[in-house]
Amino acid sequence: MQSSASLKPDYGNWVSKKFMLAPGLLCLVFLGLAFLAPFWAVPAGLFGLVSGYFIYSYLRFSPRGGDVQARIVGLILDRLEWDGMGQALDIGCGNGALTLRLAQKYPAAQITGLDFWGKNWDYSKQVCEQNARIAGVAERTVFQKASASALPFADGSFDLAVSNLTFHEVSDAADKRQVLREALRVVKPGGKFAFQDLFLVEAIYGKPDELVSLVKSWGIREVEFVRTCDEPFIPALLKLPFMVGRIGILYGEK
Ligand SMILES: C[S@@+](CC[C@H](N)C(=O)[O-])C[C@H]1O[C@@H](n2cnc3c(N)ncnc32)[C@H](O)[C@@H]1O
Repeated sequence: MQSSASLKPDYGNWVSKKFMLAPGLLCLVFLGLAFLAPFWAVPAGLFGLVSGYFIYSYLRFSPRGGDVQARIVGLILDRLEWDGMGQALDIGCGNGALTLRLAQKYPAAQITGLDFWGKNWDYSKQVCEQNARIAGVAERTVFQKASASALPFADGSFDLAVSNLTFHEVSDAADKRQVLREALRVVKPGGKFAFQDLFLVEAIYGKPDELVSLVKSWGIREVEFVRTCDEPFIPALLKLPFMVGRIGILYGEK
């Protein structure tokens, strides 16, 4: 049996294994057909390229390939000017990647990780709790199932709210800006926030400067926006629009 000191938290990978396997299998099927008729080599090559792209992305996101995923999550922590005293909320916590790093960075804070844990992702409350034990922060973290569209907390419950790549996923909210507003509702006046999402997708959020103005119009005191996709450590191939090429961080103080 492994001791908990030798175990590592499992935060998952933003590239689902099915994105590598499905085109890989189709590539093999078409390769087989290419022995009967050479033109099947064309779709075989295309599916091979798609599978290869996702394998490359999976590796670059993982610790073996430069830990790009963890470094992108870390950009949220870098933006926080928080004293670490009080309650924090991570909205759409997945397997707790950001929740637990928050708990480790702020040893006096109590952190809640909230997620809907639907079928689209290989994340669960159970893995969050196990990761928290491995990371040694289980006594200061709780995980709760709910939708980000209607947070089960009173106004101003948290000193800090964070979220990573979740708001655009919230299917029970037609306008994702309302998910952002709901996240800000539960932050105390004077509390901090840092949210990373597809804020450069205008069809979802409008233009970034208009989004900043909108958030200010909700009574939020300080709002800043930075483009994550300009970070030089992110490989060019991962900056394609459907990967992390259109993400940014909205942060500030309520
Ligand atoms: C791209 S993953 C990001 C997970 C995590 N923040 C991370 O950085 O690893 C998107 C997350 O949004 C969660 N999600 C989707 N719809 C949600 C909803 N309505 N309410 C809360 N979380 C939701 C998913 O379960 C998933 O964990």
